[in-house]
Amino acid sequence: MSAKSFIAQFLKKGNKVGAVAPSSRFLAAKMLKQIPFDRCETIVEFGPGTGAFTGYIQKKMQPNARLIIIELNEIFCRDLIQKFTRPNTEIIQGSATDLSNILSERGIQNADCIISSLPLAIFDETLRENILTAAHQCLSTGGHFVQFQYSLQSKKAIQRHFNHMNLAFTPLNIPPAFVYSCKK
Ligand SMILES: C[S@@+](CC[C@H](N)C(=O)[O-])C[C@H]1O[C@@H](n2cnc3c(N)ncnc32)[C@H](O)[C@@H]1O
Repeated sequence: MSAKSFIAQFLKKGNKVGAVAPSSRFLAAKMLKQIPFDRCETIVEFGPGTGAFTGYIQKKMQPNARLIIIELNEIFCRDLIQKFTRPNTEIIQGSATDLSNILSERGIQNADCIISSLPLAIFDETLRENILTAAHQCLSTGGHFVQFQYSLQSKKAIQRHFNHMNLAFTPLNIPPAFVYSCKK
């Protein structure tokens, strides 16, 4: 799916998509840098959009690990299903708030890491809290939650859920982005 289609979805559903263009490979590298993929059995991606991080996750994950992808947008989902066809990758059209049900329906107790691109800063407080609560509850102890944002607006909200947090920044993205790497 092209950057053009991403812009089209932004124009249609801007307040949910939260970005005008897919993330850069530099942001992808920063997002995935601190995740111990050799110890992750279940990996969750929230809001992959056109899959700017998904291919890199697939390259880094262990062959016996499982990638569960949750994307709200129907058009993005349809294209992701065609693009990422590995048997260890499942694309679900739904909301990140339903993570607990999505995992338990599949007999999975916890996620070992959650990679999130959700535009928390433009969500209302209830949705943001529900997503962060679901992420924290569903992570295994010692599990990683990585989230990027274009501002520091959601820093306090993320810190309320995760005590251990590292903050990184990359100017090599449009727009430049902050990466929150948290551990449960
Ligand atoms: C900022 S875009 C990021 C896309 C891509 N990961 C990237 O970095 O280029 C955010 C994505 O989150 C999706 N999204 C928004 N709310 C969601 C929710 N509650 N659950 C799952 N996905 C959601 C949007 O449809 C959009 O694809």
